[in-house]
Amino acid sequence: MNQYDFGTVGLGVMGSNILLNVADHGFSAAGLDLNPEKAALFEAAAQPGQSVFGTISPEAFAQSLTTPRAIMLLVPAGVPVDMAIESLLPHLETGDIVIDGGNSYFTDTNRRFMALKEKGIHFFGMGISGGESGARFGPSMMPGGDKQAYERLRPIFEAIAAKVNGEPCVAYLGNGSAGNYVKMVHNGIEYAIMQLISETYDLLKRGLGADDEQIQQLFADWNQGELQSFLIEITAEILKFKDEETGSLLVHVISDWARSKGTGKWTSQNAMDLQVAVPSIDAAVSMRNLSAHKQERLLASQLLQNAASDDTKTDLEPIFRSLQEAYYFAMITIYAQGLAQLAAASKEYLYEIDLQEVTKIWRGGCIIRAACLESFRKAFSDNPGLQNILLDSDIAKTLLDRQDAARTIAKLAIDKGIPAPVLLSSLSYFDGYRSAVLPTNLIQAQRDFFGAHTYERTDKEGFFHTIWE
Ligand code: 6PG
Repeated sequence: MNQYDFGTVGLGVMGSNILLNVADHGFSAAGLDLNPEKAALFEAAAQPGQSVFGTISPEAFAQSLTTPRAIMLLVPAGVPVDMAIESLLPHLETGDIVIDGGNSYFTDTNRRFMALKEKGIHFFGMGISGGESGARFGPSMMPGGDKQAYERLRPIFEAIAAKVNGEPCVAYLGNGSAGNYVKMVHNGIEYAIMQLISETYDLLKRGLGADDEQIQQLFADWNQGELQSFLIEITAEILKFKDEETGSLLVHVISDWARSKGTGKWTSQNAMDLQVAVPSIDAAVSMRNLSAHKQERLLASQLLQNAASDDTKTDLEPIFRSLQEAYYFAMITIYAQGLAQLAAASKEYLYEIDLQEVTKIWRGGCIIRAACLESFRKAFSDNPGLQNILLDSDIAKTLLDRQDAARTIAKLAIDKGIPAPVLLSSLSYFDGYRSAVLPTNLIQAQRDFFGAHTYERTDKEGFFHTIWE
């Protein structure tokens, strides 16, 4: 009774890997799953001497945990989270902590947070990134909720999180649903970077005629320099992986219809609500949607044939250099958009998110970990109120140094007819953001012309309407 330090509900791969990670760090761990086989498998997977307990009984599970209880739900987002909470509630006490470790929508977390608060239970929404192996050997974790209650969780979370230079990739991120919100934006950035990589791949393959080995080598080389990141690293791995059945590269026989579970779409949708511009994330979501229209694309590929020039076999080395710089440029502006969304959401939803902490814990364990995160962290450390990393002088310089390459590659994509919406929107975001004057005065005039919506003037205060005709 009351002897286990930490518990999870759900002993699927994520749940059992998190608990085994907890046990590896000297804590005792209990798991609840409705499936007795999973409970038994979890116990069997522990090392001799580790203190673990698997059960199918919510009551036995709750009784096994030290109080105040720390229980993480690792069940699919949506109704299963509410069901898991319902099954636990009769066995919980004031001061207990329930953590939702899935990709829940932040408004669901707000609702659960308030409902459990009334019962004296602390609810945390916590994004976990890093997939199955991250859960087992060190994820990046993004918790939000009650700051004081977090102290109960801190020793365990800091022990099991990924480490960068000895620093754990977990930190208290803010009030209410801040943790789920940060993870949602993490995923929006993830979508945009994955799309950017696939655009780069397409440009190399279809646009420039580079062969598989050249492309694979390029990504492998990039991972040794300023582009070092998890997504570039796995791309280099994927591009040399052979399909056993056909002997060709596996990627060549994978269908081009990209599925999604919705977190990228949520990021775009909420950015629209907050009136924050995240065009590169929007473009990435749109391209996954477009990829689903396979039949139409096949028809269109016949009807709308590309008349682009076929001068593919030129000297590729100088273009590789420009591609690298263009990729870096677009990648930085993608992070800039996501981090600006977090700054806006923090204000709107009173999260009090510390962006230095966010960039610190994204340096390791998570899917969007990358060498460049260190410079973002420095930017927020130098200026905690920074609204957009493009306003940091060091980051601005890295972009100015690479903007010519980004323009060269954007033109190349356009000339070759290769779709590159994330690259192009990143460049437009940069150009829009650095424009002291935008042509949106014309939009205001048009709105007033046809709808008497009024406009403001640059030379005097107030709202004005003109009879235009
Ligand atoms: C992570 C990932 C993960 C996400 C998948 C799938 O950080 O480990 O973001 O949480 O669920 O990447 O997302 P899609 O199915 O929407 O592509």
